[in-house]
Amino acid sequence: MNPFKFGTIVEGDFFTDRVEETAVLLQKLDSENHIVLISPRRFGKSSLVQKVLSQVDRPQIRIDLQYVMSVDDLAAQLLKAIFKIYPMEKVRHAMTHFRIAPTLSMNAVTGAMEVSFQPTAKASVLLEDAMAVLEKVTTAENRFIVVLDEFQEVVKIQKGLDRQLRSLMQRQHNLNYILLGSQESMMEAIFEKKGSPFYHFGQMIRMGKIPYDDFHKYITDRIDAEDVADEILQFTACHPYYTQQLASQVWEMMRWQDTHCGIVEKAVVALVEMHDLDYERLWQNMNRTDRYTLKQLALSQMPMQNRSQASSTSYSSLLRLMKAGYVVRVPQYEIEDPFFRRWILKNVQ
Ligand SMILES: Nc1ncnc2c1ncn2[C@@H]1O[C@H](COP(=O)(O)OP(=O)(O)OP(=O)(O)O)[C@@H](O)[C@H]1O
Ligand SMILES: [Mg+2]
Repeated sequence: MNPFKFGTIVEGDFFTDRVEETAVLLQKLDSENHIVLISPRRFGKSSLVQKVLSQVDRPQIRIDLQYVMSVDDLAAQLLKAIFKIYPMEKVRHAMTHFRIAPTLSMNAVTGAMEVSFQPTAKASVLLEDAMAVLEKVTTAENRFIVVLDEFQEVVKIQKGLDRQLRSLMQRQHNLNYILLGSQESMMEAIFEKKGSPFYHFGQMIRMGKIPYDDFHKYITDRIDAEDVADEILQFTACHPYYTQQLASQVWEMMRWQDTHCGIVEKAVVALVEMHDLDYERLWQNMNRTDRYTLKQLALSQMPMQNRSQASSTSYSSLLRLMKAGYVVRVPQYEIEDPFFRRWILKNVQ
């Protein structure tokens, strides 16, 4: 079986490093503090949190705000998650305060409890009542951990939701929130801007790439060739997802080819070709300034490693590309996807 895995949460043998981050998270969970975990996309936030949560024996709730449609949907998802942990009979006493009783039904296929509300119910009231249930079921002996993934979406679901959530969270005790986010600029605005409801809400942890030496060992334990591991990491610059993707492709190709020579380059070419259509579509949808910025970055000719060096047009292009996730700052600006970078170098003259 291919010993590399990419795209989903990784656990067990597919998971490497993150020793320090794991220790910090475990320590924070052992306090009354909340955690804010930030990194660019696909650096391994969800995998890290999954690993940490598997080491603590406490009730856990995970909600991905990307898939929350509205405030009442958030209330419903919260209740649904609580019912998954405790059967209805056990939490009924915690629901006597409900001003608008939810309708509960059993999903015959999944066996899970579905929660819905009257369409006329006021969403903010529903959320307040649902959060109050959480407050009642979490106790000093059985402290809940609530993970809200893609937290930056909070400001998109509904205006004012951030403020309401913050004031509800403030009332709760005996639980930890872990808030994850991948759009760094938005997460920073939420947690670091004075006046924002979540200003200094919890301990902010920024997750970087996986260190070179650890990743190198991870690869050579699975592909017995130091030079191949070096080439892979050189191409991906230790990006967790792209490293696993490229290593997986190399491993696959090694089954049919007995020489290591040039195999990483062949794997890169194959992966760039596989994504050719996607990259072309991406490129077509970009404006000329953004194309120019990307080209400069691909050529590593970006003069603007700080704001003062950049013209306002190119700086706003950079910000736009960062917001859309095509460019990351780690700490220098670079194209997020090394295969896209290669595609640009190949196609754009
Ligand atoms: N600790 C790790 N060891 C090895 N590979 C990892 C590790 N963490 C992440 N990866 C690689 O990165 C991929 C993405 O990980 P994960 O989904 O946890 O990241 P994420 O930051 O939550 O991503 P997203 O921004 O999409 O939510 C994994 O599928 C895996 O290939
Ligand atoms: Mg994730």
